[in-house]
Amino acid sequence: MAKAGSSVPSAVVQRVARLREEIDAHNYRYYVLDTPSIPDAEYDRLFRELSRLEQDYPQLVTAESPTQRVGAVPLTAFEPVRHIVPMLSLDNAFSEEDVAAFDRRVRDRLNVDEEIEYSAEPKLDGVAVSIRYVNGLLTEGATRGDGFTGEDITQNLRTLAAVPLRLRGADLPEVIEARGEVYLSKEAFRALNQHALNSGTKEFVNPRNAAAGSLRQLDPKVTAARRLQVFFYGIGELRGWRMPGRHSEMLHALSQWGLRVNRLCEVVRGVGGCMAYYRRIAGLRSDLPFEIDGVVYKVDSLSRQEELGSVSRSPRWAIAHKFPAEEELTTVAAVDFQVGRTGAVTPVARLDPVFVGGVTISNATLHNMDEVARKDIRVGDTVVVRRAGDVIPEIVRVLPERRPADTRPVQLPPTCPVCGSEIRRAAGRAVSRCMGGLYCPAQRKQALKHFASRQALNIEGLGDRLVEQLVDRGLVQSPADLYQLTTADLAGLERMGEKSAAKLTKAIADSKNTTLARFLFGLGIPEVGEATARSLAEHFGDLATLQNTSPERLQDVPDIGPVVAAEIHAFFRQEHNREILRKLRRAGINYPRPQATVARSVGKSLTGKTFVITGKLENMTREQAKEHILERGGTVADAVSQKTSYLVCGLKPGSKRIKAEKHGVTVLDEDQFFHLLKATEDT
Ligand code: IVH
Repeated sequence: MAKAGSSVPSAVVQRVARLREEIDAHNYRYYVLDTPSIPDAEYDRLFRELSRLEQDYPQLVTAESPTQRVGAVPLTAFEPVRHIVPMLSLDNAFSEEDVAAFDRRVRDRLNVDEEIEYSAEPKLDGVAVSIRYVNGLLTEGATRGDGFTGEDITQNLRTLAAVPLRLRGADLPEVIEARGEVYLSKEAFRALNQHALNSGTKEFVNPRNAAAGSLRQLDPKVTAARRLQVFFYGIGELRGWRMPGRHSEMLHALSQWGLRVNRLCEVVRGVGGCMAYYRRIAGLRSDLPFEIDGVVYKVDSLSRQEELGSVSRSPRWAIAHKFPAEEELTTVAAVDFQVGRTGAVTPVARLDPVFVGGVTISNATLHNMDEVARKDIRVGDTVVVRRAGDVIPEIVRVLPERRPADTRPVQLPPTCPVCGSEIRRAAGRAVSRCMGGLYCPAQRKQALKHFASRQALNIEGLGDRLVEQLVDRGLVQSPADLYQLTTADLAGLERMGEKSAAKLTKAIADSKNTTLARFLFGLGIPEVGEATARSLAEHFGDLATLQNTSPERLQDVPDIGPVVAAEIHAFFRQEHNREILRKLRRAGINYPRPQATVARSVGKSLTGKTFVITGKLENMTREQAKEHILERGGTVADAVSQKTSYLVCGLKPGSKRIKAEKHGVTVLDEDQFFHLLKATEDT
């Protein structure tokens, strides 16, 4: 009897206590402070050591041990839990006027003139929960339910690594009900749906539904596998602890106890402060690892909160300022097919216009026929469209229950809708292509736009509208024809005066003096982007040599593999391409031999470095900055990621800078960038 305590060596008892303390401390650092101090492998070792000791000495196991998160027995149903302090919801604001009206109501009720201090917080899009701690130990966790009665999901909440089983610190309340939002990160959501796709189970519609579904699992093992996260933003019942004077101080206390609080919470002043916060968070939104659907403003003074009180279901002291909806319903009016520069035929949904994510959407690309089949999108369908951040709008899914009776699956047309040529789909590829080549006006237009673009021949003033007119009127068949145009030809076009026609003629003539890299890029050879064009130019020095090189020798060029080599070779074998090149040469296209100028002045010291350029540069254009980087062997990307080496930051940089700082990317101002370039020049 009483063997339990006496049979365990005291060294083991101490070691177990020490391990639990360490593991809890690491959890706190990882989840609350966001600054993990040990590698995952080391954490796993501590965890395994504790599990082993508990296995050997089961009498040491307690409910709060970090090994005891996942209970063994699945439930048959969730028990109801009554919320002693009701879980309220929030009123919504959708505009600055709504926020101003809220602020006015607050000040009128409090009878104050000065600016109010608000705690401004991101509004997480997840599931509201309440977690009760008695003397620091987790005793009960519940969903919001109808605000008065929720469901007991203690077993499941215990499996969340970010939910402490025991609070930290000495100054603990006797009873505290911490309230917060359980959510799934964008990344965990993607992984979960990828898994569903692979295993043929149903995908979740969005992270919120996935989080809700994961919390309502009778078997906590399922919840444990879902990588749910939590942020706390408030307190329900509280006993045996003195509330501080401010909501922001209360949030601080929560995080001191080990309860994770969002780091973007901030105290702001008045409507101006609220709006600035709203805009800042909206700018960060697409880069945040979790979904938010707005921000929340709460009167920071708790005595003022009390004075303001609540109306029915929502407090008068807080409001949710929602972002424009990112998902909306609309119907598919038609599915058209667009032909791109390389002949790719892309299905595009024409939608009844709908306001989503802050803009009106009337088209959405369907990418390819596989995508259309997978989502089974038909004309007449009611669909969910989504536009998140700057991302192109997409159709998320069809509402099958709203499908009209007489719909048919969308079919790829047998011939090109623009030129009538055959459409082919290569085996194993998702894209279908029009076989018309430059005979197809759609491809011709795109090819000309590409040829004239800034990164290619840079013909200023030759915009999309003009190219379309030139092709539609039969004035231009290929890029070579551009150089035969007279000012009189151009002056006859819509919205073209004598003056602008003369200017454009000059721009076309000026474009003849170019570089081989630009020229090659402008030809629109499949698979040849700016970087490849540059490598080819440097390697061969002139077009004549390149044109007559075998696919094998083409692969001597850095970064050119068999696929790209085959495309380049095939391009130059086509007689009509050779004809266009002859005409272009006769028209007077010329370029200096690139190696001579480049190799002499700069080294390749930026090889392997990736740059992102943002904001307005004062002493060079972004194009020029890019040239300098590419010349030195570096690469230039559009978006900041873990792989970015440097962010070159001009005036008014925007969200890229914030993202760079988050990723620990070195930020260079224009001056520092200039010095870096100087330092990489050969002397
Ligand atoms: S405060 C009495 N703060 O939004 C105040 N709620 O419509 C109650 N939510 O049910 C909520 N982030 O699920 C608050 N920082 C935040 C929040 C937040 C998300 C959710 C919560 C609540 C709903 C209100």
